[in-house]
Amino acid sequence: MAFPAFSATHIDHFQANPIYGDAASRVITPEDFRRARAEISGWQGYAPTPLFALPGLADSLEVAQLLYKHEGPRFGMGSFKALGAAYAGLRVLQTQLSEKLGRTVTLAEISNGSLATEARTITLCSATDGNHGRSLAWGARRFGAGCKIYIHAEVSQNRANAMRSLGAEVIRVNGNYDASVARARADATANGWFMVADTSWTGYTQPPLDVMAGYGLLADEVCRTMPTAPTHVFLQGGVGGLAAAVAAYLRQFWGDKTPRVIVVEPDLAPCLMASARAGCAATVAVTTETIMAGLSCGEPSKVAWDILSDLADDYLTIPDSIIAPAMRRLAQPQANDPLIEAGETGVAGLAAFIAAATQPTLRNALGITPDSRVLLIGTEGITDPAIYAAIMSETAP
Ligand SMILES: Cc1ncc(COP(=O)(O)O)c(C=O)c1O
Repeated sequence: MAFPAFSATHIDHFQANPIYGDAASRVITPEDFRRARAEISGWQGYAPTPLFALPGLADSLEVAQLLYKHEGPRFGMGSFKALGAAYAGLRVLQTQLSEKLGRTVTLAEISNGSLATEARTITLCSATDGNHGRSLAWGARRFGAGCKIYIHAEVSQNRANAMRSLGAEVIRVNGNYDASVARARADATANGWFMVADTSWTGYTQPPLDVMAGYGLLADEVCRTMPTAPTHVFLQGGVGGLAAAVAAYLRQFWGDKTPRVIVVEPDLAPCLMASARAGCAATVAVTTETIMAGLSCGEPSKVAWDILSDLADDYLTIPDSIIAPAMRRLAQPQANDPLIEAGETGVAGLAAFIAAATQPTLRNALGITPDSRVLLIGTEGITDPAIYAAIMSETAP
């Protein structure tokens, strides 16, 4: 089977030389992951998301196994982000209410509503390109806190409406994602709101670490269902939180047998590859928005970078042109593969893998062989139905 959209496209590759130090358990600890798992898996509506095998596609791409963790159904929120912001928001409420009440408040007291009156006095705040804000709005409503969400100029109206319908006040900011983060930070400071960001910077690390601890649950679900470790994992990177959380969890779980970690970014926003090349966290200017809305970030998360610089083996950047073909490939499966409805950001890892598997030089550089067992994290389902429909009807915006 031919993959013309993928085999002819330019993919930039940087092979890092990670030291596999102790960041995987020092920056984010097994206890951080355990606590998040214990809490989130007790929430109403919790169910592990499916891990699909794609044997037809694996065959066509000449690898032994291709697994796709599909985060679309996660808590009815459309993406893996439901694991992060809601949990981190709950932890912020725990810290603030403990301080206010002069005693240690438990997560259960907040999540079961016994402190609803007190929680109502607290406002959680964040910037988002859609999914993180939706998760925070969902968590804030669930735990009874106020919620302010900042979005940038290009965030789709449907994504803004999804957050409003969960009770958040949504504020649109001129400029890009990084501009919306700056404005959210300034307004939070001025108004006494509490930032629950999915990115971190010097002096601001705890909520983003909790966000990442929440993401660890999806990696835990994968590890528990797989008898042996995959050989490769492709992880899409925005600020790097997802990639770092999954890479850290896999290393904690599988140790030296952990798969080769390949970070995938849009070529329009390659801040993690730029950091890898520079040997330190680096910023890139995002001048054009990528179709991979969740990955349109110019600055890595500090704590995520601390982990990725220690653990990530390779960095790839991909063009927007291979996203729609990857989404259609999942929606129109071949052989016995399942039909999967996935969003533009969610398929970035799949798109990169198909391109890598079909380009001999890259295939060789990444060590992809007929024995490879490849894990993909499909981080979102349909998060904007209008964009999804347009792409399926081949009139992509
Ligand atoms: C669907 C989806 N996948 C992946 C990512 C990347 O996550 P991170 O910014 O933590 O790298 C995002 C971020 O918003 C996202 O929405």
